[in-house]
Amino acid sequence: MSDNVIAPSILAADFARLADEARAVEGAADWLHVDVMDYHFVPNLTIGLPVVQSLRKATTLPFDCHLMIADPARWAVDYANAGAYNVTFHAEAATDPVAIAKDLRAAGSRAGLAIDRDTAVEGYLELLPHFDLLLIMTIKAGFGGQAFMPQLLDKVRAARRYIDSGHLELRIEVDGGVADDTIYACAEAGADTFVAGTAVYGAEDPAAAVRKLRAIATG
Ligand code: DX5
Ligand code: ZN
Repeated sequence: MSDNVIAPSILAADFARLADEARAVEGAADWLHVDVMDYHFVPNLTIGLPVVQSLRKATTLPFDCHLMIADPARWAVDYANAGAYNVTFHAEAATDPVAIAKDLRAAGSRAGLAIDRDTAVEGYLELLPHFDLLLIMTIKAGFGGQAFMPQLLDKVRAARRYIDSGHLELRIEVDGGVADDTIYACAEAGADTFVAGTAVYGAEDPAAAVRKLRAIATG
């Protein structure tokens, strides 16, 4: 579980060319991070199920769907059925996170739990055995291109201690402001899975940007 995963976020890509943008990082990236926002849980609107279903046919990259939506219990399994490798929903939006995780795993997907900027991780540590991934936001969820908040890495450190001491099989993903100058600190804090939007799709050569991020994270 020590191999780093780099997941470019298509939120920063050209939405008129999603298939091409996904293929641009094939061979360099491990997963494609797909941000689903519903204008309720966060004050922004991106893409939903029909786009994920269509995009699934356009690339070989596993999809890491990040649901920033209200009522994930209603929708999460639909993303699993659309072929997502991993489906992550927000702890703040879920009344019974473990039930959703079980449904996701039963549908053949991995289950991820996301913790937004203002949510403490401690209240969720005991739920982690039911999950395959913990996403710790390093910004406030809702928009790409925000400045990385290094103080949020304390949550990564706490989760890493808990996961290692319990010998849990779980990835720790960071999302928000991850770039050349911040990714090493994330790795050092204990993250092994890195979402990068602007740092990848804002670069002239997205695949080269992914390779550089991986090299820096590895140290
Ligand atoms: C924001 C999304 C992120 C976003 C990150 O809420 O969850 O995945 O794409 O973008 P950057 O890497 O530009 O901060
Ligand atoms: Zn995201």
